[in-house]
Amino acid sequence: MVDDWRISDRVVHIQKSAIHEMTRLSKEIDDVAFLSWAKPTSDTPEHIKKAAIDAIKNGKVGGYSENKGLLELRKEISKKLKKYNSIDSVPSQLIVTIGAVEGLSAAIMALIDPGDEVILPSPTYSTHIRQVVLASGKPVLVPTIEEEKFDLDLDAIRKSVTNKTKAIMYCSPSNPTGTVFSEKTLRKLADIALENDIMVITDEAYEYFTYDKNKHFSIGSIPEMKTNTVSCFTFTKSYAMTGWRIGYLHADESLIPQISKAHIPFAICATVVSQYAALAALKGSQDCIKDFRNHYLSARNLMCKRLDEIDSIFDYQKPQGSYLMFPKILLKEGNDSTTFCKKLLIDAKVSTTPGIAFGPTGEKHLRLSFCVTEEMINKAFERMERYFKQ
Ligand SMILES: Cc1ncc(COP(=O)(O)O)c(C=O)c1O
Repeated sequence: MVDDWRISDRVVHIQKSAIHEMTRLSKEIDDVAFLSWAKPTSDTPEHIKKAAIDAIKNGKVGGYSENKGLLELRKEISKKLKKYNSIDSVPSQLIVTIGAVEGLSAAIMALIDPGDEVILPSPTYSTHIRQVVLASGKPVLVPTIEEEKFDLDLDAIRKSVTNKTKAIMYCSPSNPTGTVFSEKTLRKLADIALENDIMVITDEAYEYFTYDKNKHFSIGSIPEMKTNTVSCFTFTKSYAMTGWRIGYLHADESLIPQISKAHIPFAICATVVSQYAALAALKGSQDCIKDFRNHYLSARNLMCKRLDEIDSIFDYQKPQGSYLMFPKILLKEGNDSTTFCKKLLIDAKVSTTPGIAFGPTGEKHLRLSFCVTEEMINKAFERMERYFKQ
């Protein structure tokens, strides 16, 4: 921990991100095979870029928008939520945010008092843990069931509820495990939330990327959950818009002014040029989503096949969604995933993410990302095969 009187306790207690550390190290090495990125490698579709350029040329982006975002955009989001997520909404229940991450941060700041407990299924997206700590809340990490494809352990979640529990926060499809929590499971989670007056905060960043028979389900579509849920979404993954920093959240109308009180000091409003790009994304052809999904599906199948060929090194659960997977390292060197991944990077030139970055239950694992080209996957696995044979 840094001993520096200038830094707040809140920030000092946040651990340095292993993801950023690996990215920094990877940059120091030539010709790395990257399986560590969780961002789409495709570029943003042309019609979306063009809409942004037109908005700039037409002088629409020089000022702030309404804090909650352009009304025209919120109307389109409302249609999308109805069509795709079965969530009934009106624009006054929406805030356009700087990616999903700012929406999640604003929601946490609005809901969590110092000392409040937030249940997080573990392993989970490490940013969620940091968001809770930044709000001076207490993350309560409840292990998922690895043998059941990292599914929620509902009994353990129920047992973890205390009189300090304020919220349950999860991402489905999951980063890092690729799990898609089923409608049946999420309905049971909703029962726990309703019985105990607990909020549910969702991160649905990978909503469109599910495979086989797995379907994305939004807990916010359950009518009884209307007042208990803040659902966060993003354009980052669906439309390959990582750098545009644009997303949105849906919550009960009475919560929106309160969440806005956190959103405004962070952002005032989401970046206006990106709001016009997002509008074009929703109004235009949705074929890009289909294309990305098909690519990720064949990349997932390839990665699983390549992992089967080195089954004495890794065991894995086949991802049901997202573009990430979380194999278990069978070698004893994997007990320290950070050292294992650093060695893999330096000695085999393959960049992965140590499982410990996703909470203590992530140790002995590593995260692999399949949002890359098939050549990249093959290159990485050829190198790993050679490395582990030595
Ligand atoms: C689960 C999850 N949520 C949110 C994000 C970031 O979303 P955004 O770019 O919309 O802030 C990521 C990025 O990797 C993610 O994996």
